[in-house]
Amino acid sequence: MLITLEGIDGSGKTTVASALARSLQDINPVLTREPGTNWVGDQVRRAIAEEIDPVAEALLFAADHAVHLATVIRPALDAGHLVISDRYTDSRYAYQSVTLKGRLQDPLAWLQALHAGWTVPPDLTILFVLPVEEAMARKGEGRREHFEQEQTLSQVQQQYLAFAEAEPFRFVIVDSRLPLSAITLLVEGVIRDFSKVQRSRHRR
Ligand code: TYD
Repeated sequence: MLITLEGIDGSGKTTVASALARSLQDINPVLTREPGTNWVGDQVRRAIAEEIDPVAEALLFAADHAVHLATVIRPALDAGHLVISDRYTDSRYAYQSVTLKGRLQDPLAWLQALHAGWTVPPDLTILFVLPVEEAMARKGEGRREHFEQEQTLSQVQQQYLAFAEAEPFRFVIVDSRLPLSAITLLVEGVIRDFSKVQRSRHRR
């Protein structure tokens, strides 16, 4: 079973992911992330830092996803693990449909076509939402990636919310303004319940 954590920069999903690593220890999930922790992921980070052409950047993110699927996601799912990924395909659909606006006629359709036939859709996606100004304040005044601008992030969050509206059974929306301990408990509960339901469905 594949669960993904999504949200804009500063939404706290990475902090929740590390808290889940501890609280879900008994079910031994595989925790992973995109961009990945291999050389392709490193090139993605370099591309972000150098602000290369947005089409090239999108293709690198997709290449990183293909490697992630081949080396982490598919083997873990085949071995029967619960897999939790901090960012996944919806990050591309949300961020790159904003960065490719004006460059392509229908960026989202292009991105979906790019993934068709080889990606593995998530069973459940937890979307962390908070006002963009708060996300920006959490990130502080340090060096910002080109995505981390108020206007971009607000469009990215709009995209995420539109996906959640289109697929209400896949998405659970979490209010990131809640205290971390409450969020972790809530997400942990959702994951445990969801995996129980999925397991009993498979047994039938
Ligand atoms: P992030 O998860 O924040 O990585 P790090 O903690 O190493 O900074 O991802 C980096 C940025 O890349 C973030 O702003 C979101 C963006 N991103 C995309 O635009 N598309 C994608 O497909 C992914 C996975 C991330």
